Amino acid sequence: MTEDEIKKAVGWAALEYVIPGTIVGVGSGSTASHFVDALASIKHQIEGAISSSDTSTTKLESFGIPVLDSNEVDSLDVYVDGADEINSYMQMIKGGGAALTREKVIAAIARTFICIVDINKQVDVLGKFPLPVEVIPMARSYVARELVKLGGLPEYRQNVVTDNGNVILDVHNLIITDAMALESYINDIAGVVTIGLFANRCADVVLVGTQEGVKVIG
Ligand code: A5P
Repeated sequence: MTEDEIKKAVGWAALEYVIPGTIVGVGSGSTASHFVDALASIKHQIEGAISSSDTSTTKLESFGIPVLDSNEVDSLDVYVDGADEINSYMQMIKGGGAALTREKVIAAIARTFICIVDINKQVDVLGKFPLPVEVIPMARSYVARELVKLGGLPEYRQNVVTDNGNVILDVHNLIITDAMALESYINDIAGVVTIGLFANRCADVVLVGTQEGVKVIG
């Protein structure tokens, strides 16, 4: 199987966790995109979706799946999304696609976060994948200097403006051994909107796509 076929298998496997008659939280990225294809096959059985990015919204709407405003949704049973890295504690780095802020909000609202990844995303220690940090534009240099003090090498993601009108710093050179503490510390830097570490609210179930099939953790 190619990497994309593995992503497809894991995206479709997540369908099993969708509860008929409910609203579904939908993530972003190439793996989540396969999940949207799968969701379209049962679109008449769900009430609609909350989407983590304009790209996912466009795709959901193209299938005729209603996309609801998260402010109008009191509770969400299931949120399905990919990750850039995931460790054995189900803590993740996300935001490779710059959708981290909405992803974090949906993860916070959801009762169950189903993370869908291919086996290459599993790591012992988070940090090889540069950690995305969304910042308001006028704080970019200040936040970058603070990240350097932590030992990171922040790189301004060129030509990217998030769906919220902000910019992204990708932080290289981090070996993240205490993900919860680092998440809270960086969140506290003035000008930071969201950090792409999902440690305090980690995944509840991980579906890992492998050549041998989909492995379920959790
Ligand atoms: C989007 O901002 C990300 O958090 C994605 O979930 C992550 O980048 C995984 O994307 P792929 O499924 O394309 O690898």
